[in-house]
Amino acid sequence: QLFSAPGNAGTDLCGTNLPIKDTDVSALLEAAETYNIQLTIVGPESALAGGIVDTFEANNRPIIGPNQLAAQVESSKQFSKDIMKKYHVPTASYEVFHSNELATKFIQSQTQYPIVIKADGLAAGKGVIIAYNENEALEAIKKCMIDDAFESAGKTIVIEEFLSGEEASIFAFVDEHSFQMMPAAQDHKRIYNGDKGPNTGGMGAYCPTPLISKSMTEKIKQDIFIPFINGLKKEGIHYKGILYAGLMISKDTPYVIEFNARFGDPETQVVLPLLETDLVEIFIAMTTNDLASISIKWSKETAVCVVLASNGYPNDYEKGKQIQIPEHDQTNQSIIHAGTLLKNDSIYTNGGRVIGAVGTDSSLQTAIDNAYSLAKTIEFEGKYFRDDIAQKAFKHLD
Ligand code: AMP
Ligand code: GLY
Repeated sequence: QLFSAPGNAGTDLCGTNLPIKDTDVSALLEAAETYNIQLTIVGPESALAGGIVDTFEANNRPIIGPNQLAAQVESSKQFSKDIMKKYHVPTASYEVFHSNELATKFIQSQTQYPIVIKADGLAAGKGVIIAYNENEALEAIKKCMIDDAFESAGKTIVIEEFLSGEEASIFAFVDEHSFQMMPAAQDHKRIYNGDKGPNTGGMGAYCPTPLISKSMTEKIKQDIFIPFINGLKKEGIHYKGILYAGLMISKDTPYVIEFNARFGDPETQVVLPLLETDLVEIFIAMTTNDLASISIKWSKETAVCVVLASNGYPNDYEKGKQIQIPEHDQTNQSIIHAGTLLKNDSIYTNGGRVIGAVGTDSSLQTAIDNAYSLAKTIEFEGKYFRDDIAQKAFKHLD
């Protein structure tokens, strides 16, 4: 049996939705006890930062995710950067500021632009500002520290060096004794084709990406995952769960842009379709720190996900539009729900990013075609999607 809190139309169709907020840890524990839920998998960072894992473990409920201390890899950029610096994990150079005056002085002494200004805490993916000149940088500091645009999350800020290059995401399954990396994916964060326009939660992804060769994967393991996970251990923090490295590949060197304490969206929609081993078997092994005993198998295919968004996203958009989902070839096309709601046997839009259309195939081009032929036939008023998801793969294949 599968329960989801709060869930969407997709989870409603294949399990039971529980109307509980992801941050309501005591209500989630109560539900786990009421329904005798044997294994809980945490999706969102807010629940991890709220200590859901600590609460469930104290009540002997198996759960997949880092505890509150370990979840700081995502919930505090300062924490994460300090661990990276101390254990020599390649990342952009940075300074931390708790006062507007000192941050302003620092910016006034800078000559190199762009520069990156980040709210320390969780800001739903909106807390990063890339400033192209001094005015923009001062404006960003004001937004965080005076106008409180990110509330308490922006009271401390990190100002860091701008890294250029191409981004990739790699997730790892981690338990207290070992970890196993998943194949690398590329997200498409901007709203418009050609990576133009404002940042979004992600408009599409594909996996694996030829940007990350076998030797680069080994470098990322040796230079990033091993020292970071061991560094945390030396600080007395045993990371368990999914560890997400957001990377910038700059002149053949991987740098960490950020770590997240969970699966990424929409990368997961293209990583997990390639997993041939039973995911639940992996999770169960992780709960007893037996991950090393599992040989995880991955398909050699490519998966592509095109996100269908509501017109207006990432700004204002309407909800409640009825969605028509066509019959499709379930061997190489699948639908992953995001902001959807099931009501009286019909499915409606209920968020900015509505549905992911996923295509798979042994050929990248056919996987793209499979994703797009599905994306085009799903209907709802105000449907918007990018036309160029996964095109950036081809230059690396050349
Ligand atoms: P985040 O919300 O933390 O995932 O960051 C949003 C985006 O900001 C990242 O995906 C990068 O595109 C960009 N970014 C963050 N830090 C840097 C950096 N130091 N250099 C260049 N781009 C960055
Ligand atoms: N793909 C970006 C994220 O999940 O944070």
